[in-house]
Amino acid sequence: MSGRHLLGITDLGVDGIDEVMRLADTFVEVGRRPIPRVPALRGKTVVSTFFEDSTRTRLSFEAAATRLSAAVMTFTGSSSSLNKGESLRDTVVVRHGCAGVPAQVAGWLDQAGGASVLNAGDGAHEHPTQALLDCFTISREREARFGARPARPGVLRGLRVAIVGDIRHSRVARSNVLAFSALGAEISLVAPATLLPPSLAGWPVEVSHDIDALLPKCDVVYLLRLQNERMTEQFLPTLREYTATYGLTAERARLLGPSTIVMHPGPIRRGIEIAAEVADSPVSVITTQVANGVAVRMAVLYLLLGSGAPIGA
Ligand code: NCD
Repeated sequence: MSGRHLLGITDLGVDGIDEVMRLADTFVEVGRRPIPRVPALRGKTVVSTFFEDSTRTRLSFEAAATRLSAAVMTFTGSSSSLNKGESLRDTVVVRHGCAGVPAQVAGWLDQAGGASVLNAGDGAHEHPTQALLDCFTISREREARFGARPARPGVLRGLRVAIVGDIRHSRVARSNVLAFSALGAEISLVAPATLLPPSLAGWPVEVSHDIDALLPKCDVVYLLRLQNERMTEQFLPTLREYTATYGLTAERARLLGPSTIVMHPGPIRRGIEIAAEVADSPVSVITTQVANGVAVRMAVLYLLLGSGAPIGA
């Protein structure tokens, strides 16, 4: 990883993504130990600043920092605290409802010569660590389930990924399109026209409105939540119609190919974008995504903060 901040996937490039994934392999192993902790970031401080609701991402970052023996400071919701940028050391993890806030914080901290900034989700813009953990999960699950040896660094080369749902409001979709395409995947976006971004110019994707035609051909089906909190108008006639046309219902899941995996960044709305029995079935790797998130965030924190220090025992 070359830069001091991780604001978006393009900060990394293919080799940077691969570096994170290789290191995350080591940290998965650390996570399996009876005491899952290494001294790599002892003496460092990670400040977690979440100005938007989050459970899994915040806990995942905090678990990652703790497992690396960093001190963790948390504050939520108070924008005035950001003015204390000068006094913040080491790494600041930022989630905010507005696009660009992590970049703004990075600008302030650069002037103060201080901390690294890690974007933990900004508005509908980017969520780079989610994309990294998703790439890592696809690569590892395909190896574990189907013996598919990853071809590095383009570990998703030739895979077909369908991203289904509310792409318009999704920072996960944006970061994942960048990361999946950088690693060589072919991407289809599947959504009603109202839930696609107003322009897809420059996006390396094809668009489909027919999920049934795609399911048998995909290696990965990636479902997204309808992000009502970002919707400023009525984007769908009814939820029931959305589920009937785009939901991964139990009936529709029978169309999945034998080596397809189903993913979701959470939080899941069971019965809307995915049926409960599909989310809990063996085709789903959703809980593995959450578990891998800690190892991937350890890798990112270590690369931003470790300055070559040994990972330790
Ligand atoms: C996602 C997010 O916050 O963008 N969730 C997450 O990070 N676990 C997706 C979502 O909220 O639907």
